[in-house]
Amino acid sequence: MFKTNNDLMFQARKGGYAVGAFNTNDLEITQAIFKAAKEEKSPIILAVSPSAMKYAGPRNLVAMAKIATEETGVPVAVHLDHGTEFEHLVSAIQAGFSSIMYDGSKHPYEENVRLTAEAVKLGHAVGISVEGELGRLVGTEDHITVSEREASMTHPDQALDYVERTGIDALAVSIGNAHGWYKGKPELDFKRLEEIGKIVGDKALLVLHGASGIPDEDIRTAVSLGITKINIDTEIRDAFRRGVEGFMKENPDVIDPRKFLKPAIDEMYKIVSGKIKLFGSSNAATDYIAEVTGRAV
Ligand code: G3H
Ligand code: 13P
Ligand code: ZN
Repeated sequence: MFKTNNDLMFQARKGGYAVGAFNTNDLEITQAIFKAAKEEKSPIILAVSPSAMKYAGPRNLVAMAKIATEETGVPVAVHLDHGTEFEHLVSAIQAGFSSIMYDGSKHPYEENVRLTAEAVKLGHAVGISVEGELGRLVGTEDHITVSEREASMTHPDQALDYVERTGIDALAVSIGNAHGWYKGKPELDFKRLEEIGKIVGDKALLVLHGASGIPDEDIRTAVSLGITKINIDTEIRDAFRRGVEGFMKENPDVIDPRKFLKPAIDEMYKIVSGKIKLFGSSNAATDYIAEVTGRAV
């Protein structure tokens, strides 16, 4: 039913595009993501964080994804985003996720290596792909010096050691990217990304987190340098809020949730659809959809 991140990202690498990993927490966000994937005939990664699992229940999210996958015919991976505890990994696997991320980036290096290697053993034992993170994604709200910023980034030589010792399938890089909105223009270190790609690009697939608010031309550069998975959450949340807020301003007395959630789905759909086009994955699933649905698309 679901693809693994490896399945989708290897195809992306061959095709020179990236697959969007879009965070979901509920039915409305899931619907918006699948509507965009279907219309763009694109593979997608449905990203679910530990707090999303807590909010909605991992099995509910998987059940929704299963139905939407059947109905749309697009290739989908359901991926645990930023699992920081082993219980997150186990809950995701038990619920039927097809890929997991173990984020040990808060730990000292050796501890990150040890824990990530354990996560890889667990994921590979059940046939799913595993993403790890090296370097820290510094929050946009963190006030840090230039040297602290440097220190938080992924070091190319250390990346090689990390990939070889952990056996991860995909590596989330820290090159100046951050979660949430950027204060000012993001300054991504593309030289570093290029170096990481040269050193580990044939050993691990590369992932860019914190992509909301990164200018389109920088996203294209990142893809050209080997990024095959790009994570978007903040722009979807913002669209959700904008949709509800816009409707409620015009219709302050409406209490039917279906009325105010529909514009939220529409706004989120526009964001996801735009990102799919930008990442270059539109029409990448055409043959696959034709095969699984038995219809030319
Ligand atoms: O990077 C994390 C994602 O944006 C998910 O955030 O933990 O608030 O669900 P969350
Ligand atoms: P944004 O906050 O930039 O949307 O990043 C999402 C992300 O990296 C989820 O793991
Ligand atoms: Zn992230």
